[in-house]
Parts: sequence; C-alpha cells; structure tokens
Amino acid sequence: MTLPSKVRLYEVGPRDGLQNEKKIIPVDVKVALINRLSETGLTHIEATSFVSPRFVPQMGDATEVMEKITRRPGVTYPVLVPNEKGMRAAIKANVTEIAIFTAASESFTQKNINCTIAESIERFTPVIKLAQHHHIKVRGYVSCVAGCPYEGDIAPEKVAAVSKTLFEAGCYEISLGDTIGIGTPDSITAMIEATKENVPGTHLALHCHATYGRALENIKAGLEQGITVIDSSVGGLGGCPYAEGSSGNVATEDVLQMLNSLGIETGVSLDKILETARYIKEQL
Ligand code: HMG
Ligand code: MG
Repeated sequence: MTLPSKVRLYEVGPRDGLQNEKKIIPVDVKVALINRLSETGLTHIEATSFVSPRFVPQMGDATEVMEKITRRPGVTYPVLVPNEKGMRAAIKANVTEIAIFTAASESFTQKNINCTIAESIERFTPVIKLAQHHHIKVRGYVSCVAGCPYEGDIAPEKVAAVSKTLFEAGCYEISLGDTIGIGTPDSITAMIEATKENVPGTHLALHCHATYGRALENIKAGLEQGITVIDSSVGGLGGCPYAEGSSGNVATEDVLQMLNSLGIETGVSLDKILETARYIKEQL
C-alpha cells in the first residue's frame, strides 16, 4: 500500500490531554503549553472545551485560556463544544474553529454528554447554524470507533453511519476516535473501509489512544487507508473522563518519530515537541 507523502498533525494535548488531570492546572501553565506548541510548526492545536464545568472541572477556565493565548498566524485553535450554551461562549471567545462530539455507542454517549446519539445530533443543529453564521469551521468527533467500554464491539457500519450524519450536517472533517485504544490494525482498517463508503477519506482523521500499545501500528494502518490527518497529544497526556482505561492519547513525539522514519512530511519540529513534552511533564 502506498503511504501519503504529507500528514497534518492535529494536537489535542491542551484539551484531551489535560481534561483528565484531577488537580486543576493553573491557566498560565495551559497558556504556556499552547504558546509553546504554537512554535513547533503545528497548525491545529485543540486548546480547551466549552463544556459543563460540573462534568469536566479542568476545562472550567476555557474563556480565560482563549483570552490569554497568543494566536500565531497560520495556527488554528479549535475548541470542543457540546451544545448551544457552549457555542455562545465560544463565539464570545472569538474562536475560529470548533469540534462537536458524539459516538458510535449509545451507552458512551449517554455517560459522556447525557443524551442519545440522535439527541446529540439534534443539539448540534443550532450549534452548526451559529458556526456557519459566524464563519467558524466545524470538526466532528466520533468516539468508540473500535469498541466501547460499556458495550464492547462496535460495528464498522455504525461508525460509518454516525460519520455520514456529521459530515452531511456540515463538519469539514470527521475524527474517528479509538477512545479506549482497543483497536487492532485489522479492526481499524475494516472501520475506515466502511466509513470511506460514506465520507471521503480526505475528510477523515484518526484519533488513537495508546492504552494497549497499539496506537502506532493502528495509525500506520490508517495511513495505508489514505488517512492524512492524525490526532495526537504532546507527552502522551490524556484520556477521557467517561471511558475508564482510556489513559494516554498517542504521544505527538511518537507519531512524529514514526512519520519521520517513514519519510512523511509534517512541518513539525521533533526537537520543539520534545522540549514542550518535557515542559508540561515538569508542570504536572
Ligand atoms: P446536562 O446535565 O444534560 O446539561 O449535560 P444541561 O443542559 O441539563 O445543563 C446542566 C447544567 O450544566 C446547567 O447548569 C447548565 O447551565 C450547565 P445549572 O443550571 O445546573 O447550574 N451547562 C453548561 N455550562 C457550561 N458550558 C456548557 C454547558 N452546558 C450546560 N456548554 C453536557 C450535558 C453536554 C453539558 C454535559 O454532559 C457535558 O458538558 N459533557 C462534557 C463531557 C466531556 O467534555 N467529555 C470529554 C470530551 S469527549 C472525549 O474526550 C472524546 C474525544 O477525545 C474523542 C475520543 O477519544 O474518542 C473527543
Ligand atoms: Mg480522545
């Protein structure tokens, strides 16, 4: 299989990485992390979430974080938005890109955002409308694409169906999340093949967690399927508070080393990523 010559890394450390930290991290540390990441060559840095602070206290400072970061030209700072209330706050914070999020599993969706998959899509309708009105780009996440902590196996067709709904609703890119790192190269391949029936591969991203040490081989399987956008988290920080055992997003430095060794261009400096990983690990 041919591999792509270029890959865009989508950094999730400040959001997916930090959301699971129990101790509240000072705003200045979050801002310093984002500013450092801005100097690495990354073009997409997911900065925070406008979610309920009752659900995810660590992200309760979203407005302040967005106000204090230095926005580097050419870099986009997407934020997670679950509903209209979050969207209105994100607009006030002058965001230029949001990410809406649902899942291919009903049980996970219920735990994570307290509604069914169908209700989550209904909630996103006014969010997308507002985004379009304000010229804000919308990315969509589908979680549990390779398995669910509550339901076990998830059919590739289910992932394909939810991805199609998000794409048709106006998401420019669908990020396929192996939330609990349960995927294997074979299951990831089957899931992407099914999803490509509904959404062009050029609009898909892969979001792997390193729980069972298979994230890199799964990403390689994704690249062989033509995926050119990979989500990763500096220092391998993270997990999802509503998926026990989801500890550890795939580390940006690990993905970068693999892509470099495969001769795939990213425009991101490995040295600067390693420096940033050291910085945030010292702070935590
Ligand atoms: P709910 O309780 O059904 O919402 O939660 P509600 O509308 O009934 O409101 C309840 C309270 O929350 C109210 O406050 C609202 O004002 C407030 P009260 O009147 O009780 O004081 N509220 C908000 N406050 C601030 N910002 C908001 C907001 N919305 C309501 N946006 C809700 C539903 C979606 C809000 C909640 O479940 C929630 O915030 N969930 C977020 C969960 C989350 O962030 N999970 C982690 C991210 S997903 C992930 O990590 C996976 C991913 O990385 C991909 C992968 O790995 O698979 C993306
Ligand atoms: Mg995640």
